[in-house]
Amino acid sequence: MHNARMIREDLYYVGASDRRLNLFENVYPIPMGVSYNSYLLLDEKTALLDTCDRSVEGVFMENVAHVLKGRSLDYLIVNHMEPDHGATVLAVMEKYPQAQVICTAGAAKMIGQFFDGAPLGRIRMVKEGEKLCLGKHTLAFYTAPMVHWPEVMVTYDETEGTLFSADAFGTFGALNGDLYADEDKPDFGEMRRYYANIVGKYGVQVQNLMKKAAKLDIRMICPLHGPIWRQDLDKLLGKYDLWSRWEGEEGLVIFCASIYGGTMNAMERLASMLSERGVKGVKLYDISAQDKSFLVSEAFRCKAAVLASASYNAGVFVAMEDFLHDLKAHDFKNHRVAYVENGSWAPSAAKTMKAILEGQALETVGETVTLRSAAHEKDAAALEALADALCAAMKE
Ligand code: FEO
Repeated sequence: MHNARMIREDLYYVGASDRRLNLFENVYPIPMGVSYNSYLLLDEKTALLDTCDRSVEGVFMENVAHVLKGRSLDYLIVNHMEPDHGATVLAVMEKYPQAQVICTAGAAKMIGQFFDGAPLGRIRMVKEGEKLCLGKHTLAFYTAPMVHWPEVMVTYDETEGTLFSADAFGTFGALNGDLYADEDKPDFGEMRRYYANIVGKYGVQVQNLMKKAAKLDIRMICPLHGPIWRQDLDKLLGKYDLWSRWEGEEGLVIFCASIYGGTMNAMERLASMLSERGVKGVKLYDISAQDKSFLVSEAFRCKAAVLASASYNAGVFVAMEDFLHDLKAHDFKNHRVAYVENGSWAPSAAKTMKAILEGQALETVGETVTLRSAAHEKDAAALEALADALCAAMKE
């Protein structure tokens, strides 16, 4: 059974959702699933904008056939070739042999790499700003390299002010009947987790795309994951502007890597001290108990972070080491950080944490607190001093 949805009389959603996949990209948990979006534009010529993951190929193909109602497919526009969107490009080319593929040179190369024997002669490569007239609709193509792969472009329908934005402005989470973000409370938490982990490293490139987008009269954004945006575009763009500059939105987060509980004991006390000083909404995470993708997202959200860890193998506890390397891989910067370490004989955690994050343009708050084996009342003064410094930093 098809599940195509009408957006306008001449524009249809033909994507589908996957609720079975545990790990997106085989690494990120998606407890609420994920949608693979595809759009079909009907004009004098017909154009399919992106395909879908192989897991939903059946219903996707049925959606396309249902909306075409026997018409031919004239164009397949490939904005992004990562297999969650590009895995069924060859299947569409084979089913609609008259369709011309429109994409960047980078995407054309990838089509050849992903699919042995792909009919590459049917590909028309487009450059920045090139246009395609379908009849009433004129599409303009803008490159968006590294948002989130190098071959990416976005497609702007000049006639309707619709931006087909590829991975940008997407989110984890399957669609649950609602097609538009304004039909439910937008889940900026999952959108942030998607952004931080998938695109987070490429903030500079996202800023470049946003500069191009600022010159367009955008009335609707159709991403490749998650709901369509037709309202509150300023709010959405504002979030992306903050995230792509690595600017924290709100709040203070304590990331704690504790082995036997001593470091966590101290961080529970620090959280209380912060609350007593008026720093509300502090989040304290045992980072061994959380998937890293949620922690990276929280690091992007917060304005200040406390990094507290036990020492381990003359370095830092493995959960913190993994987390900080992941943060660095996402070029985490422009935040305030404070350090707490614990060590029974040769505390090495703070030095190691600072070494991992060296060069990341982070502002250190307060003095490093060093615990010995467990948290003791004699450590309270150092924690109070750190709470004061964090409190002052949060008020700046
Ligand atoms: Fe949703 Fe980069 O693919």
